[in-house]
Amino acid sequence: MAGRPLHLGWFMNFTPGEWDHPLAAGGSPWDGKFYVDMALALERACFDYIMIEDTLMVSEAYGDSAEAALRHALQVPKHDPAPLAALIAAATTRLGVVATLSTLAYPPFMLARLCSTLDHIAGGRFGWNIVTSGEDTAAQNFGLDRLPPREQRYAMADEYVDLVCKLFDSWDPDAVVMDRATGTYADHRRVRPIHFEGQYFKVRGPLNTVRSPQGRPAFVQAGGSPRGRAFAARHADSIIAIANGIDGMKQYRDDVRRHAVSFGRNPDDIKVLFLIYPILAETDDEAQVKRQRLVSSPSFIERALASTATVTDIDFATFDLDQPLPRLTTNGEQGSLDKFAQWGSGKTLRQLVLDNISRGLEGMVGTPDSVADYMGSVMEGVGGDGFLITKPQTTLVNRKYITEICEGLVPALQRRGLVRTEYTKSTLRETIREF
Ligand SMILES: Cc1cc2nc3c(=O)[nH]c(=O)nc-3n(C[C@H](O)[C@H](O)[C@H](O)COP(=O)(O)O)c2cc1C
Repeated sequence: MAGRPLHLGWFMNFTPGEWDHPLAAGGSPWDGKFYVDMALALERACFDYIMIEDTLMVSEAYGDSAEAALRHALQVPKHDPAPLAALIAAATTRLGVVATLSTLAYPPFMLARLCSTLDHIAGGRFGWNIVTSGEDTAAQNFGLDRLPPREQRYAMADEYVDLVCKLFDSWDPDAVVMDRATGTYADHRRVRPIHFEGQYFKVRGPLNTVRSPQGRPAFVQAGGSPRGRAFAARHADSIIAIANGIDGMKQYRDDVRRHAVSFGRNPDDIKVLFLIYPILAETDDEAQVKRQRLVSSPSFIERALASTATVTDIDFATFDLDQPLPRLTTNGEQGSLDKFAQWGSGKTLRQLVLDNISRGLEGMVGTPDSVADYMGSVMEGVGGDGFLITKPQTTLVNRKYITEICEGLVPALQRRGLVRTEYTKSTLRETIREF
């Protein structure tokens, strides 16, 4: 590929690994070691970062019950990303470590303090995935009856981010002097209250943590709606996105870059990574057989619909699988809903579920070499910046899948000069901006 190499991230959550597959024995990764091993594999493969997704509820969106969510363990149980991020950071030296922390859940002071602490533990490799949460059941765990509407959530999040940035800046880089002559640890003139008083939040400051290696963590965001994209373009170092086909990806990235320019930012400072789940095998035919086995599993439709229900708060169990969906809106992930529903296509719900497996990127099924070629050609069409790899939506992760990606696909990409073969930077923000 002419031009810049592509960036790679990995999207995962602190949920059970695959436990009922013939070649997997996961299921209880709660001491974090499985995911530390995963991070070490990603670091050997020179990924930019591992991204730990998070939500804050047991979803009852599908069938008005937690049954499907719990039976398939797709989104729950889900443990806290922050301690896992610390474990991963301590075990790695170059990989970026991104944790999802919701503005709904954390008082801004606590979030800034946690991020600063994690960025220290990670030696400047920590990133915050900024989310506002998208489920009423999550809001109900924080004293609300329902989520604030999207516009208000983003208005609050804009203020929230401004506030935590002021907290991050409340310690000058040279505030810690450790001057033996005067017996001074930190110079009080270089640590200042912020006296922030906005429409939604009021915080005195300063933060009580030392300024972190990156000053502030790298910011990751995934806004899909027009408001969400503008928010992401204003704040993010990396944007993670779901889009359909090359045209959808290009349109999304161009839009974000336009927004970035309107905020006075250099659009090249933002790396947009698109979610994919390659299905790999030793031959293209075998990979197609694997894909077919996945989609014809008896629980495939329920798993797929329960997952989509979780992030949209829409009960897909109430719709006929063999009819088109009625037009729907959500206060949750509208972008994900729009991509899933392909409005106006006339496709039945069953077809939509099957399409969702590849989202218009059929070439993601094949040998490492054929998928690597395809990834290169997709990026040529889109213009950049890279991919966020994850397990197929309806499956749980296992070591075999991680190995296929890290020791099959990534070397194939490296042979083509499409991705880095070594790290040259030490902080996550620098790694994201390396090319
Ligand atoms: C790849 C990807 C990862 C996401 N990860 C999370 C997450 O970990 N937690 C969360 O609450 N929302 C997550 N979201 C949802 C986004 O934060 C956002 O709400 C969603 O993309 C819809 O955009 P909108 O809020 O602008 O409508 C993710 C979205 C995408 C596309």
